[in-house]
Amino acid sequence: MDPYITEWLNLILRFAHVITGIAWIGASFYFVWLDNHLEKPPQWKSDKGIGGDLWAIHGGGFYEVAKYKHAPEQMPKLLHWFKWEAYSTWLTGFVLLALMFYLGAETYLIDPSVSDISPALAITIGLASIAGGWLVYDLLCRTKLSEHGVVLGIILMVLICGLSYVLSQTFSARGAFMHVGAVVGTIMAGNVFFTIMPSQRALVSSVEKGEPVDPSWGAKAKLRSTHNTYATLPLIFIMISNHYPMIFNHQYNWAVLMVIFIITAAIRQYFVARHKGNENKMVLVAAALLTVALMIAIAPKKIETSAQTPQNTIEVAQVKSIINERCTACHSKKNTDQIFTVAQGGVILDTLDDMKRWAPRIQARAIDAKDMPFINKTKMTGEERSYIAQWIAQGANVK
Ligand code: HEC
Repeated sequence: MDPYITEWLNLILRFAHVITGIAWIGASFYFVWLDNHLEKPPQWKSDKGIGGDLWAIHGGGFYEVAKYKHAPEQMPKLLHWFKWEAYSTWLTGFVLLALMFYLGAETYLIDPSVSDISPALAITIGLASIAGGWLVYDLLCRTKLSEHGVVLGIILMVLICGLSYVLSQTFSARGAFMHVGAVVGTIMAGNVFFTIMPSQRALVSSVEKGEPVDPSWGAKAKLRSTHNTYATLPLIFIMISNHYPMIFNHQYNWAVLMVIFIITAAIRQYFVARHKGNENKMVLVAAALLTVALMIAIAPKKIETSAQTPQNTIEVAQVKSIINERCTACHSKKNTDQIFTVAQGGVILDTLDDMKRWAPRIQARAIDAKDMPFINKTKMTGEERSYIAQWIAQGANVK
């Protein structure tokens, strides 16, 4: 497909994905907050079957929210459901994934230095991991484990960790991260579609028929929505991690991702507990300490400079030729790459002055994180990286 058309599709889908995602997660945050802030209602409300109530002010108006213990005596004429937020987030996300990573498998999904697989095999593995991830999760939730929330939670974490490891040995670093995100997102949307919605439909139909409500439906939905609550922040993290090669391109990126899962899920836990009035600040402190520990653990190694190459042996002509050979296909006023047809990220590296100006970002991407050249398409060598590193270490002189 014409890269210009792909770029537009990408833009439209990503924009829609972000908007629907905000609507879904926003509603989810709001309802978790709401549930945790309900108070004991006055007697006249209790008599009507209201179990909790809450007052709020927003946008210049007062809101009175009441949650029924079981169900209202009569079904209201209009009942609002929250499902399209989830479905449309999943759909836009899936199409975006297919557009970038499947149609563009050779560009984005396959990294020959990790595993030189064919596009067909890579796509099959990708789709299988998404479908398989959901099936395994759903099966586990249907077993007796569902009664032991913490044990189930730990098992799920171990499985996600295993999956990230396997995918990191199969796909490009971005492809692996995005697939872990797709698996988690599919589980969350699947929970809405296959469990939460059916349980709510059963609830509504019992109320309409005036029959007692089967409590097992509610319990199932509760477990799934608890999982969704804790998966939200890790999922959002994966979605923005693409901008941080120091994380996704790290040698042990799968382990880094797990640490981030723990940090972000802990933060979510802190807020859930806080809404209920039993916050524990130590959770936040622990999350912050773990973040600092992670930062130190994955810091890029300093390149040995003076020992091997004395100061005066770095030649700018050589620097220029390395960058021209390895970078300008995608970072030039006149790109030559077939897929990346305009200067990527707005970075142009045609002249030595350009290179000097971009030196800190060249350092970040080509030396520290090593995710540039993109999936090492132009086959930059380790010696070339350290040559550029030394040039930058010595002040990135242009003369
Ligand atoms: C095959 C194409 C390709 C090659 C070759 C390539 N890049 Fe990139 N570059 C990209 C793409 C795509 C982006 C935008 C996405 C991103 O930022 O990850 C990008 C973005 C960047 C950015 C901007 C984002 C930022 O972090 O500031 C920098 C800097 C960069 N590349 C440096 C380099 C350097 C240095 C080289 C050569 C060693 C190089 N690139 C080679 C494709 C390429």
